[in-house]
Amino acid sequence: MKLEVVVLAAGQGTRMYSDTPKVLHDLGGKPLLRRVTDVAESLDAVAIHVVYGHGGERVREAIGANEFNWVLQAEQKGTAHAMMQALPCVDDQACVLVLYGDVPLIQAQTLRELADATDDKGLAILTAELADPSGYGRIIRDESGRVTKIVEHNDANQDELCVHEINTGFLAAPAGTLKSWCAQVHNANAQGEYYLTDVVAIAVKEGADIVTRNPAVTWEIMGVNSNADLAQLERTYQRQQAQALMAQGVTLRDPARFDLRGELEVGRDVVIDINVVFEGKVTLADGVHIGPNNVIRSSSIGGGTEILSNCVIEQSIVGGNCRIGPFARLRPGPRIADQVQVGNFVEVKQSDIGEGSKINHLSYVGDTTVGKNVNIGAGTIVCNYDGANKHRTIIGDNAFIGSDTQLVAPVTVGEGATIGAGSTITKDVPAGELTLSRAKEKTVLGWTRPTKNKP
Ligand code: UD1
Ligand code: CA
Repeated sequence: MKLEVVVLAAGQGTRMYSDTPKVLHDLGGKPLLRRVTDVAESLDAVAIHVVYGHGGERVREAIGANEFNWVLQAEQKGTAHAMMQALPCVDDQACVLVLYGDVPLIQAQTLRELADATDDKGLAILTAELADPSGYGRIIRDESGRVTKIVEHNDANQDELCVHEINTGFLAAPAGTLKSWCAQVHNANAQGEYYLTDVVAIAVKEGADIVTRNPAVTWEIMGVNSNADLAQLERTYQRQQAQALMAQGVTLRDPARFDLRGELEVGRDVVIDINVVFEGKVTLADGVHIGPNNVIRSSSIGGGTEILSNCVIEQSIVGGNCRIGPFARLRPGPRIADQVQVGNFVEVKQSDIGEGSKINHLSYVGDTTVGKNVNIGAGTIVCNYDGANKHRTIIGDNAFIGSDTQLVAPVTVGEGATIGAGSTITKDVPAGELTLSRAKEKTVLGWTRPTKNKP
C-alpha cells in the first residue's frame, strides 16, 4: 500500500496561554510542527496533508505554504473531526498515517514500523507504558490482552485511570476504512469533541484487528500541551544532542548546560564549556575550544581557535588558531583569516581580517578590508556610516593604527603605514609613512586649579 500522511495541527493549545499557535512554539530552534513535517518528509509518502485552523495563515507561512496539502479545519471540534476534513483528499486505497503537530520528537523508524504493521483491514496504534500517564488517553484491553477501546483521561473512571499504557496518538489504517470509522464517531464525552481515539472501539465492533507497536524510547511520543511540557521536552532533546556529540568525542563541560538550536558539525578534540548556545549551522574544526557563555550562530570556526568567554558570533567565518574574545562581537559578515586576535569589546562587521592581524581592545571595525599582520590599537573606530550610506575602508598589510584613531570611510591606509594615536583620518594614508592628525600639546605654566568658594 502506498503511504499518505496526515498531520493534525489545527488545535489552539489553550493550555499554553499564548497568542502564538501551539504548533509554532519552538523546540531546539524549530517550530514543533516543522519537526513533525520534517519527519513526515523523510517517510517517502506520496502526499502529506496538514490540517490547520487555529493561527490560520500564520501557521502556513511559518511552515512553508507550498510544500504540503493544507486542509483547513475552520472550527476545532476534535481530532476525528480534523481527520474528516483531510480524508476526502486521501486515496481510499492508501495507508494513512496520522501524526500530531504537538508531538515533535517522533522518529521516522518508529513510524515506518507502525505503517508496516497495518494491513488492508486493520488498525495499528502506537502505545507506550508511562510511569505517569496523566493527561493521555488510556489503552483498555480485555482479559485476553486484546485492545477494546481508548478512554481519554477526562472520561476515564478510577480503574481506567490506573492504566499506564497510553495512546501516543500515532495510528495507521487503510484510508477508506478509517473514513467509515471516523464518520461514526460522536461527541457525547467530557469535552464535547469528536475524538479520533473512538475509532478503536468502532473498529473492534466491526471485527477489525487492532495491532499495537511501541516507540523505541518514550521521549519520542511526549506531547506538548503546556509550557512545562515544552521546557521538559526541550531538555530531553538537548540531552540527546549532547550525548550524541559526546559519543563523537566532544568534551562538554556540562551536558545539562548546552543548547544546540540547529546543526553542529565537529572535528576531533573540540571542547565546549558551559552555557554555550549554538544556532543555525555551526562548524567547529579540530581542536576548537569554546569558553563559557558564548552564542554562536551560523558560523564556522577553524582548527585550534579559541573562543574565550562571553562572545556573540554570527554569520562569521573564523580561521584557524585565532583567539577571539572575551566579550567580542562578530556581527554578520566577518571573514577572519588564521592567527587573528579579536579581543574584548571589539565589534567586527562585514570585514575581512588578514592573517596574523590583531584588534585587541575596544574597537569597531565595519565594512573594512584589513591586510595581514595589521595592528589596530585600542579604541580605534572605523566611521563607516555617514548617516545615509556606508563606505569601505582598506588597511594594507603590516599597517599600525595607533590607539583612539578614527578612520572616516571611504579611506585607504597604505601597506606598512603608521597612524599616530588619537588621529582622525579623512584622507588616504601613504604606505610606509607616519601619518597623524593631532592638536598640538601645550603646557600652561604656573596654572593653578580653582579652589572652592568660602561660604
Ligand atoms: C490526544 C489524544 C490522546 C493522546 C494524546 C497524545 C484524542 C481525542 N486524544 O489528546 O488520546 O493520549 O493526544 O499526545 O485524540 N487537533 C486538531 N483539531 C482539533 C483538535 C486537535 O487538529 O479539533 C490537533 C492539535 O493541534 C494537536 C493534536 O490534534 O496537534 C492533538 O490534540 P490535543 O488537543 O493536544 O489532544 P490531547 O488532549 O493531547
Ligand atoms: Ca496534545
